[in-house]
Amino acid sequence: MFAFFNKNDPATDENVELDAQRIPAHVAIIMDGNGRWAKSRHLPRVAGHKEGMNTVKKITIAASDLGVKVLTLYAFSTENWKRPTDEVNYLMQLPVSFFDTFVPDLVKHNVRVQVMGYTDQLPAKTQKAVRDAVADTQACDGMVLNFALNYGSRAEMVTGIQAIAQQVQAGKLTVDQIDERTVDDALMTSALGQYHDPDLLIRTSGEERISNFLLWQIAYSELVFTDVKWPDFTATTLKACIADFQHRDRRFGGLSDHK
Ligand code: FPP
Repeated sequence: MFAFFNKNDPATDENVELDAQRIPAHVAIIMDGNGRWAKSRHLPRVAGHKEGMNTVKKITIAASDLGVKVLTLYAFSTENWKRPTDEVNYLMQLPVSFFDTFVPDLVKHNVRVQVMGYTDQLPAKTQKAVRDAVADTQACDGMVLNFALNYGSRAEMVTGIQAIAQQVQAGKLTVDQIDERTVDDALMTSALGQYHDPDLLIRTSGEERISNFLLWQIAYSELVFTDVKWPDFTATTLKACIADFQHRDRRFGGLSDHK
């Protein structure tokens, strides 16, 4: 019925058929390989990030067209500040260029922008671009395009734990009342409502690690790793990743129906 996922090069598979009833509601992507993509073309690393931004545009529309409800993209981690200043500056400029040119398309496709992360530590112009994009797409009620910007999962958990502890200290919550829901609500993904946990997590470029991304939220996510570098990732690659997801037997710790 559907073609099998080719981890090494799913982008060549043009005949992916998807079950429209089982599209993952929340897809999260670790967009990796921009630097290597550029290096293999004898280009500066930032050329990879520029092409990566164009991929973000294509994949946003493709995910929205497929019926994905939330697309979370890891655009800048709390650890990415360790990169050379020129590269960090370029990465901070990217959301400005992206939203400058792409907000009308987002509105046309009814896509709402959200951002999670320590955005108050971003340069003022990046903060403004993000704030404006959130405001300009506020009325859209289709897919949510959720950027993780200056995001780190451990930092997010520390902040969440501090908030819970403060509630206990203030007498608003007892220790016994703390449950998984309390933690869900204390994390940045609580802004995504019922879609706070990704169903599918994709990492591009052949690296198979999580890199401090949504550690609590991916407890039951399906993980798909593809060798395709982010600038080469296409709508077809996305469909192939979703086809792989649709092959999986999600049991959430229970037994599957046929056992
Ligand atoms: C990882 O590749 C990529 C990043 C750290 C940045 C991701 C950003 C984009 C794809 C553009 C984001 C667009 C917007 C609109 C914010 P890498 O540099 O680590 O690649 P490498 O592992 O090959 O060096």
